[in-house]
Amino acid sequence: MNESKKCKESFVVKTSIVLPPDTNAYGTLFGGKLMAYIDDVAGISAMRHARKNVVTASTDSVDFLHPIYQGNSVCLEAFVTYTGRSSMEIFVKVIAEDLLSGERNICAMSFLTMVAIDEKGKPTPVPSVIPETEEEKSLYDSAKERADIRKNRRKDSEYRAKKYGIDQSV
Ligand SMILES: CC(C)(COP(=O)(O)OP(=O)(O)OC[C@H]1O[C@@H](n2cnc3c(N)ncnc32)[C@H](O)[C@@H]1OP(=O)(O)O)[C@@H](O)C(=O)NCCC(=O)NCCS
Repeated sequence: MNESKKCKESFVVKTSIVLPPDTNAYGTLFGGKLMAYIDDVAGISAMRHARKNVVTASTDSVDFLHPIYQGNSVCLEAFVTYTGRSSMEIFVKVIAEDLLSGERNICAMSFLTMVAIDEKGKPTPVPSVIPETEEEKSLYDSAKERADIRKNRRKDSEYRAKKYGIDQSV
């Protein structure tokens, strides 16, 4: 596939307010809820880029840098930073806002890898990326290094899956 797309074409923004059903006993947003939001926006972003169905292949570490309190708004921004043949790296930034004071904090960031799949569920090619802004260029230039780390991590996971098997499972 020779087609290329700009990062802004895959840009996704999702904003919501943190309400009691999504908080823990300390009145802050559940980590698992935030991870689901992160996966959602990354998937939408990847589908905007590829215009194909996608699956999550991996999520890099998510560091929860700042608590997100009940009543805060939580805004997620995502775009595709880099692609391989069928895989896309998506950068997700999470910003919480105290709606009364206006104070904003970056609460989490993550890189996810989504893979475009065809009607048989097989990986299928995606357009490449044209970075334009300083942030996009910097993420694009550093993406190959992150992809290599993921490749090694995948090998390690596959090795462990084979080594430990399912014998100990109930
Ligand atoms: C991801 C998946 C489609 C890869 O399929 P595969 O037949 O193993 O294909 P490949 O090894 O050729 O990998 C395809 C691409 O995915 C990338 N990839 C695969 N596993 C990866 C991982 N863990 N992390 C990052 N990239 C990964 C490969 O590097 C390759 O990229 P490229 O095409 O850009 O070079 C397959 O493993 C799968 O379906 N996994 C389950 C996905 C899922 O169900 N997600 C929801 C979780 S509940």
